[in-house]
Amino acid sequence: MKNSALLIGITAVIVAACAASRPVADNEMGLSKTSVFEDPSPSVFDYPKTEPSAATALPRAWNSAPPQVPHKIDAFVPITTNKNMCVTCHDKPSLIGKKTKGIPTSMPESHYDTIEGKLVRNNGRHVCTQCHAPQASVAELVGNTFKTDQ
Ligand code: HEC
Ligand code: HEC
Repeated sequence: MKNSALLIGITAVIVAACAASRPVADNEMGLSKTSVFEDPSPSVFDYPKTEPSAATALPRAWNSAPPQVPHKIDAFVPITTNKNMCVTCHDKPSLIGKKTKGIPTSMPESHYDTIEGKLVRNNGRHVCTQCHAPQASVAELVGNTFKTDQ
């Protein structure tokens, strides 16, 4: 008798819990406000057409973050094994650490290996666009309050 009362009690609790919970709507499953069954296309945007000669460095997101590319790069990509236009301007070891307006900043020391006393470009960094990206004015998909302190 005691056992069946307990069973009825447990069943009542489970039934009440099931009634209280409701399925998660398909537009409430993530940060996106659209249904998971929709396939929204991001709005089209253009990168700025700034030529390298007119570019000025953009603020860094944080100390030692990869600097953002402040000029257009369409004529310099794709970067292939045998072709890297970026280094024709930015591979200037004698200018490391020197910044002059209108002159491409040299890649920093971290991008070179020292071999027999000479600075040699580190092949691990060959694909510059892996870390350095041009910037466009695009609305954030999810708002955030990040501010650079640089
Ligand atoms: C024709 C020369 C030229 C080419 C080619 C070129 N750049 Fe630049 N780049 C510049 C100049 C000039 C600036 C502006 C001065 C500066 O801040 O270095 C600049 C700025 C930058 C900066 C900002 C540096 C900083 O300290 O904030 C980055 C990053 C950069 N370029 C990356 C690239 C990448 C990646 C490529 C290849 C996809 C590339 N550049 C190709 C000339 C060039
Ligand atoms: C693995 C990521 C990565 C790759 C790949 C990479 N960089 Fe960088 N780059 C960085 C970071 C991080 C910094 C800033 C910190 C530092 O100085 O090392 C930087 C800094 C720079 C700077 C600014 C130097 C200064 O003194 O202000 C230039 C210019 C640059 N990189 C050019 C290039 C070019 C050109 C390539 C391709 C040959 C390249 N980088 C590949 C991560 C990368």
